[in-house]
Amino acid sequence: MSFEPIGVFDSGLGGLTAVKELLSFLPNENIVYFGDTGRVPYGNRSKETIIRYAKQDANFLQSKNVKLIIVACGTVSSVIDSLNGSFAVPFTGVVKPTAASAVKATKNGRIGVIGTTATISSKSYKKEIEALNASIEVFQQDCPLFVPLVENGFISKDDPIVFMVVKRYLQKLKEKDIDTLIMGCTHYPILREAISAVMGDNVTLIDSGRETALYAASLLKENGQLNGSNQAGNNQFFVSDRVEGFSNIAGLFLGRDIGNDVHRINIEEY
Ligand code: DGL
Repeated sequence: MSFEPIGVFDSGLGGLTAVKELLSFLPNENIVYFGDTGRVPYGNRSKETIIRYAKQDANFLQSKNVKLIIVACGTVSSVIDSLNGSFAVPFTGVVKPTAASAVKATKNGRIGVIGTTATISSKSYKKEIEALNASIEVFQQDCPLFVPLVENGFISKDDPIVFMVVKRYLQKLKEKDIDTLIMGCTHYPILREAISAVMGDNVTLIDSGRETALYAASLLKENGQLNGSNQAGNNQFFVSDRVEGFSNIAGLFLGRDIGNDVHRINIEEY
């Protein structure tokens, strides 16, 4: 048993979609979340910058004595091999567990991947899937307008602007006859209904936050590190920019109110 918290970080608040899943599988765990709201987005930055930011994010979480680090950010997860040796505790990104789940889900061997431009150009998902099963065909598409849409509250599938943008990005993937689509970015599960409306019911949507939360739960279990308490865990939220307005947008990602319990830190100190 281990009462230390699980650390989760993301470039901003999008990683709360993974925390939401984590809370549903492991409600008794203590969680420390860091969202780098002062430097978001990461998705259009260079690999060097993403790595430098990620190391600082992980250092901050380690200063909170976390037992496991979950890199909820699809963009950081895409360069995670370059972070080996940077963590003193076990860690996982979203790519491996999500790719494994997509490989299990596909029946026709045709998988689509959507993510930020950095995630798609790294080909992280494509390489991971092909390593698991070389006969699977992977089709990728970056969707850079999805993050700003979500962050500005444009999420309804019935909103013509949302539907048009989603359709514009996904039409080509749809024509590839994929039966499984990886939502490889923190924000995309919020657009699930619109994505599903465009892709149709026959395409299975894989949520990277959910798959990673499931994987983290099994990892902790395997290592005998689950928090055995029967009380609801304590959750702490940290950001690198203003805390005002945090609860509104956090509520959207987390699906529940977290009140004003959020603290600002100077990430450059880590
Ligand atoms: N969290 C990022 C990801 O999942 C999306 C936002 C960003 O570009 O930083 O890739």
